[in-house]
Amino acid sequence: MVFAKIIGTSGYLPQKVLTNKDLESMVDTTHDWIVERTGIYKRHIITNGESTYSMALAAGKEALKNAGLKATDLDLIIVATVTPDKIMPCAACILQEKLGAKHIMAFDLSAACAGFVCALATAQQFIESGNVVNALVVGAEAMSTVLDWTDRNTCVLFGDGAGAVVLTANPDPGIHISKLQSDGNYGNILQVNSNLPGYKNDNASPYIQMAGREVFKFAVNNLGDLAFKTLATVNMKESDIDWLIPHQANIRIIQAIAKKLNYSMDKVIVTVDRHGNTSSASIPLALHEGISSGKIKSGQKLLLEAFGGGIIWGSIILTL
Ligand code: ACO
Repeated sequence: MVFAKIIGTSGYLPQKVLTNKDLESMVDTTHDWIVERTGIYKRHIITNGESTYSMALAAGKEALKNAGLKATDLDLIIVATVTPDKIMPCAACILQEKLGAKHIMAFDLSAACAGFVCALATAQQFIESGNVVNALVVGAEAMSTVLDWTDRNTCVLFGDGAGAVVLTANPDPGIHISKLQSDGNYGNILQVNSNLPGYKNDNASPYIQMAGREVFKFAVNNLGDLAFKTLATVNMKESDIDWLIPHQANIRIIQAIAKKLNYSMDKVIVTVDRHGNTSSASIPLALHEGISSGKIKSGQKLLLEAFGGGIIWGSIILTL
């Protein structure tokens, strides 16, 4: 049996920081409301010249360097994003060309905030089947480009960024298990309508539309259950996990899931306070921060948990 093992991580955040105070001058909100309801203090936003692809490239290069591999060693690139620079070519193919990784599989994966977990699970299947030895998996989002900056319900929540991991085929785990689920019946509680010319007749907003309270309830009700199912599948207990790395949407959602698992917040990697919700970039950014700060150590067991528009949710257990 061969396992998919993470051998390098990275994170990239744009230089421009947008604080809650800055938002007070843009919409009818307050720093205190945002902190109390979401736990967010600030977020990073792209400026001229930056985009999903440029952030993905920065994160991809750094992850390869940290893994000690060259782009030509890669067999697969997956970019998880719902904010690609172009419909085609996809971000992964642009990345492939800029990195100089020739004639390999490269494609984007669209699963909103669950994108990175879905992409990691996909790369895992390719590696376990023997089709791929080395894979680069990137979560990159320019969420600021799909926000209505006059809508206080959504514009205070999100940020831009990218995170990446390099996986390699290894005789020991590695990823133990990935479990993904979706329910299209809840598609309307979190959506961005197509901006393509042929779809413009319905006068739908091209910006993020979200029923915040419904999304909140869905995440809290379903993520805990999935974590228990995932642990049970590999005969593990909650106490076998060293670190919970959840999708960073709202500190109250993170706390509720930690409580269901009976984890103290000391066992949870939190970046939402400084990054906001960076969608598919949030988990790889948190993973990289946890490793580079020295909190997460090689050999420890991690539980990744994500949910996003679709609704899609998933969890992964891995040994670093
Ligand atoms: N500043 C001040 N007041 C605000 C703001 C704001 N930025 N935004 C909303 N309000 C108001 C509302 O208008 C409402 O006012 P009303 O009572 O007069 O109608 C009041 O605050 C309370 O609104 P609620 O929606 O009940 O507030 P809640 O406590 O649910 O918090 C929030 C809202 C933060 C959006 C929360 O529901 C949440 O985090 N939901 C999950 C969002 C999420 O995770 N989204 C990402 C999903 S992942 C992906 O795929 C993109």
